[in-house]
Amino acid sequence: MNFRDSEFVKGMLIDEGFSLVNSAEGADVILFNSCSVRKHAEDRLISNIADLKGLKKRRPQLIIGLMGCTAQNHKEKMIDKLPMLDFVCGPGNEAQIPGLLEDILKNRCPIIAVDKVNEKRPELFPEYRDEKFKAFVSIGEGCNNFCSYCIVPYVRGTERSRKAADIIREVKGLAARGFKEVTLLGQNVNSYRGIGDRVKGKGFARLLEEIDKIKGIERIRFMTSHPKDASMELFKAIRDLEKVCEHLHLPMQSGSDRILKMMNRNYTANKYLKLAEDYRKFVPEGSITTDIIVGFPSESRKDFEDTLRIMKRVKFDSAFMFKYSPRPPAKSARLKDDVPQDEKEERLEALLRLQCDISLEKNEPIKGKILEILVDGSNEKFPKDVTGRTRTNKVTVFEADRSLIGKLVNVRIASITPHALKGRIV
Ligand code: 5AD
Ligand code: SF4
Repeated sequence: MNFRDSEFVKGMLIDEGFSLVNSAEGADVILFNSCSVRKHAEDRLISNIADLKGLKKRRPQLIIGLMGCTAQNHKEKMIDKLPMLDFVCGPGNEAQIPGLLEDILKNRCPIIAVDKVNEKRPELFPEYRDEKFKAFVSIGEGCNNFCSYCIVPYVRGTERSRKAADIIREVKGLAARGFKEVTLLGQNVNSYRGIGDRVKGKGFARLLEEIDKIKGIERIRFMTSHPKDASMELFKAIRDLEKVCEHLHLPMQSGSDRILKMMNRNYTANKYLKLAEDYRKFVPEGSITTDIIVGFPSESRKDFEDTLRIMKRVKFDSAFMFKYSPRPPAKSARLKDDVPQDEKEERLEALLRLQCDISLEKNEPIKGKILEILVDGSNEKFPKDVTGRTRTNKVTVFEADRSLIGKLVNVRIASITPHALKGRIV
């Protein structure tokens, strides 16, 4: 989401006549985009901005701005803490950034723009994209779920869906420019309501159907799905629509019913298991990935073992795993953060080890198969190799010329690791 927001702001500024430079020293304007989901990201951001103190002193004309969720969360307090900042702009106000820069150039006084947290963004379509063949497309903003640990509804506001016609226009524009893959983004894509269908999960499946028809687009991905809204309609869409990739990111967060309840997730571990089984019935070759938090307040050894147990049953292809951190004003921040730091570390380590074994086990049967890969990059260290992804979103490495970046190729998988596949073009 932040990647797309940064790209959007870059696009608006390029349309205003700005250009991108490679170093802070050479820049007239430096913008930081920020994430508040975990405390660690906020701490790093603050030290990165503070590092610019010397540069700002040498060049007082330099404009430094902070956008994103941390800006929304701490508002003017960020400027109190970091006086080198010229403006603070929340996610809902980002379309105003070109105007803010103009105001600062004229008046040189700090600006706080954080009042549009619940408003729809204007439908602007800057041409600039960071990549040439795959793109993120936002289908909506905000979230109504208020999971007790999560700051997102407070900083990105409540849920607003973009109109299907605007999304389709954006994707058609990308297809006309040669883009092959789109990833549809929303905090909870399954509650998408921009296409006039209010049946649970149906609106998003209808949107997928429409995007599937767009000529030139070869792959459609989406994230994130909330288990309480994931539906059979969605699984059918993944099964039946040619371009929709066979990958589901379905954050589970915990395998303990007690903790899930405290998290306000609205499902039980068994319900999650059943959902994962249903998905596999519809899409047997599909991958499933997840997010897990360890060390939520009061999480006992038994609660944690429930998570391990469910992970062993679902067998995720991969997982993002995090140590809990309190994020006020999210509700759980009022609970005592009582799982000791070293216990959180230990649980995270145990989870990582388990997931590593499971990922290896899941990748094993892929050996020998021929898979379609969208080539997406190369690695300086291994100049003969390129990287790409399978439809199931697994990173694949193989020898090929860089001119294939952006192309679809078939690769026979020769070996596997927990995190990547290796093969040869056929
Ligand atoms: N502490 C740790 N992890 C968190 N996440 C969200 N809030 C917190 C928090 N307070 C994780 C969740 C979510 C992912 C994007 O970040 O697992 O799915
Ligand atoms: Fe946060 Fe829950 Fe919304 Fe995801 S669904 S953004 S975890 S409140």
